[in-house]
Amino acid sequence: MGQKRLINIGVLYGITDSNTVKIGHDLSKIKSIKNAFLDFKDDRIAGFGSMEDLTESNAEEIDVEGGIVYPSYVDCHTHLVFAANREDEFVDRIKGLSYQEIASNGGGILNSAAKLQSMSEDELFEDALHRLNKLIRLGTGAIEIKSGYGLTLEAELKMLRVIKRLKDENLIPVKSTFLGAHAFPKEYANDHDAYVDLIINEMLPAIHAENLADYIDAFCEEGYFTVTQTERIVKAGLKYGLKSRLHVNQFTSSGAIEMATRNKAISVEHLEVMTENDINTLANTNIFGVALPACSFFLKIPYTPARQLIERNIPFVLASDYNPGSSPTGNLSFVMSLACIYMNILPEEALNALTINAAAALEIENEVGSIAINKKANVIVSKNIKSINAVPYSFAQNTIDDVYVNGKKFL
Ligand code: NIG
Ligand code: FE
Repeated sequence: MGQKRLINIGVLYGITDSNTVKIGHDLSKIKSIKNAFLDFKDDRIAGFGSMEDLTESNAEEIDVEGGIVYPSYVDCHTHLVFAANREDEFVDRIKGLSYQEIASNGGGILNSAAKLQSMSEDELFEDALHRLNKLIRLGTGAIEIKSGYGLTLEAELKMLRVIKRLKDENLIPVKSTFLGAHAFPKEYANDHDAYVDLIINEMLPAIHAENLADYIDAFCEEGYFTVTQTERIVKAGLKYGLKSRLHVNQFTSSGAIEMATRNKAISVEHLEVMTENDINTLANTNIFGVALPACSFFLKIPYTPARQLIERNIPFVLASDYNPGSSPTGNLSFVMSLACIYMNILPEEALNALTINAAAALEIENEVGSIAINKKANVIVSKNIKSINAVPYSFAQNTIDDVYVNGKKFL
């Protein structure tokens, strides 16, 4: 602990004067200092500036050798806790089955739920902690994690307790989202509303009693939860003080965005299929639009029309959607590449979408998401590149040399 000073930083990116969300033209604006230093005191950022203005200090010096430093990524949409990979379904898709066909044959989310139900809380925790450590090394400095592979009262509680234990490890900030409405268990195949009743009348009160969730989510989609069912869940969540962050418009547009707007959701996520009306509806709100390009890439579905969202001043965010079915990666440098290549997002826009805007979408913008005095000293160091442009350019390569978490090098 104590004092550390990163010196000879070629470019220090992501400095902010305020924690305001970046929208429209501002999304491409990122404040940086060339030839900079950055000071940490204990777990916080304590100062920064030009090397020319360096003052005496007895801090431990770390030479970045002209490389770049930028704030750690914030991943605001993950399903990090799961029992097993689903690589066999991946091969089924190569052979021609669709994601939806695999799900209706008993694969997909129900496959993940069956495996998770039979795994112990301790095993789930160990696996998830291992994954979290790997993500931190890839630059993730704060994360949201959803339940949703339990689908029974006991198994949803088990998942949320695992997330709570990850939070209590105090590695990086963790936000927890209850996603009981991820799929309908087989037993409810003929009575979907009864499962919605179970979520509202049994799961939510139990989760509230243990204070296990920060947000509520539902997979609002054809074949999953209808707009009406999702709205019931969102309203029930609000009674327990849980704002909603919702899976919407992944495969179809069905009025979910209007519903989310009516109920003051904090974010709408996925958005691969957006009508003119959806964009108009969202444009007049400050609801975050979260795009998940790794899911589009892996499932070969359309990419979110990000440029249109940005032009209409919708607060734009990127996240990984890390999960075993539709996005088996949490590598946000790769997400940045996909956003730049397939959504025509500039590297600076992608960085803002993955840092300050993502932090605001998780309501932790006072803690993380930029270089500012007293924010957490969670930063990424890339010694061998000269600009942020090289991060998305170097797709599928690791450009990160070191990450600092709470002011310490994370090994
Ligand atoms: O965000 N779309 C719904 N949920 C996840 C995928 C879940 C799964 O296939 O396991 C998603 O893509
Ligand atoms: Fe998801």
